[in-house]
Amino acid sequence: MSKTVGIGITGGIAVYKIAELVSRLRKNDIDVIVMMTESATKFVSPLTFRTLSGREVLTDLWQESREWKVQHIGAAEDLDLLVIAPATANFIAKMAHGIGDDLLSTIVLANTAPVLVVPSMNTNMYKNFIVQDNIKKLSDYGCKFMDPDTGMLACGTSGQGRLPDVNDIYEQINKLLFTKKDLFGKRLMVNAGTTCEDIDPVRFIANRGTGKMGYCIAQEAVNRGADVILVTGRSHLETPKDVKVFNVWGAEEMCEVMLRNQPACDIIIGAAAVGDFRIAKAAEQKIKKKDDRSEKLIVELVGTPDILKEMGKNKVPDQIMVGFAAETENLIANAQKKLKSKNLDFIVANDVTMEGAGFAADTNIVSIIERSGTINSLPKMSKQEVAAAIIDKVVELVKKN
Ligand code: C5P
Repeated sequence: MSKTVGIGITGGIAVYKIAELVSRLRKNDIDVIVMMTESATKFVSPLTFRTLSGREVLTDLWQESREWKVQHIGAAEDLDLLVIAPATANFIAKMAHGIGDDLLSTIVLANTAPVLVVPSMNTNMYKNFIVQDNIKKLSDYGCKFMDPDTGMLACGTSGQGRLPDVNDIYEQINKLLFTKKDLFGKRLMVNAGTTCEDIDPVRFIANRGTGKMGYCIAQEAVNRGADVILVTGRSHLETPKDVKVFNVWGAEEMCEVMLRNQPACDIIIGAAAVGDFRIAKAAEQKIKKKDDRSEKLIVELVGTPDILKEMGKNKVPDQIMVGFAAETENLIANAQKKLKSKNLDFIVANDVTMEGAGFAADTNIVSIIERSGTINSLPKMSKQEVAAAIIDKVVELVKKN
């Protein structure tokens, strides 16, 4: 069945770029209902959009409509996705405060379809705390935002504020329209990154975990409709949007946060590189280096909790738990042992010595090993693709439960 996208156009110089977007959507058999604020019509005539969309353009709350009796309700009910592009600071503020004083803002209020907002404005306006607060508020309500591009702006300055490339908006629309929402209504918690254990106030022990795999899983789960909690140790990656993030430092803190959130989760994935040891007693002051460089510094290490094992003991009925096994030898046998000892539903095993697999790489080569003994060895894939394969397996198990 063909999809219907509402394009809400507000008054910014980038309005003319939306003509190209509407044209591309129509060429790909996506039905488009264009709605314009009064300011938007000052930049480009509704006639342009009527011609490109092949439908009447909605501009005025009081205009007679041939297509809908109460047009702001009727049009809203027909949408699979509502896109606001370009979105001005003023319109974002109206959305954030539930104001419905023109046709487009009333459609936003009556709409129940997912919303994609594409801001475009002067850099200082975009960075303004009030605008950012409004964006945060709408993101928390579930609206998706695209970040503006950086470059020359129509106002003569340079900075972040340009409408993203129309191809990127088109791709994002397709993703939102056609990605399976097979984790809708499920809460998934994933951990990622490396844990850090203090030696003294300035030094710590960490490992090569970068967070890439766990962050890709969080992003994939959000895209597929899950409510996602990301518990992240040290990582330099930007956190995925629309995810509840807990930043943690050591393994014990990570364990405590995860155990606290465990009862409310349907799915738990352990992708973090959790350190297995911490310093028995971290020094309160910076440890001074000795003049005698041959003198040894001996630190005592003690074990950290095995987070997944602890969670495995507290597994609630139908909760799905997934772990990783990064191995350098006997991949399958070692992974199978971990699968059982941690009470997991499946484990994702990878030989970190292989080229294109493991910690900092953008790709991974994994085998998915299930409790039943089934082993699915996947070819080299991007970490995004591996994340999608893991979520596919999770969905399969959710459906069985
Ligand atoms: O036992 P091993 O460290 O190889 O197991 C790897 C899996 O267990 C990963 O999913 C990792 O996130 C998890 N793990 C954990 N707590 C630890 C060590 C590993 O949850 N202390």
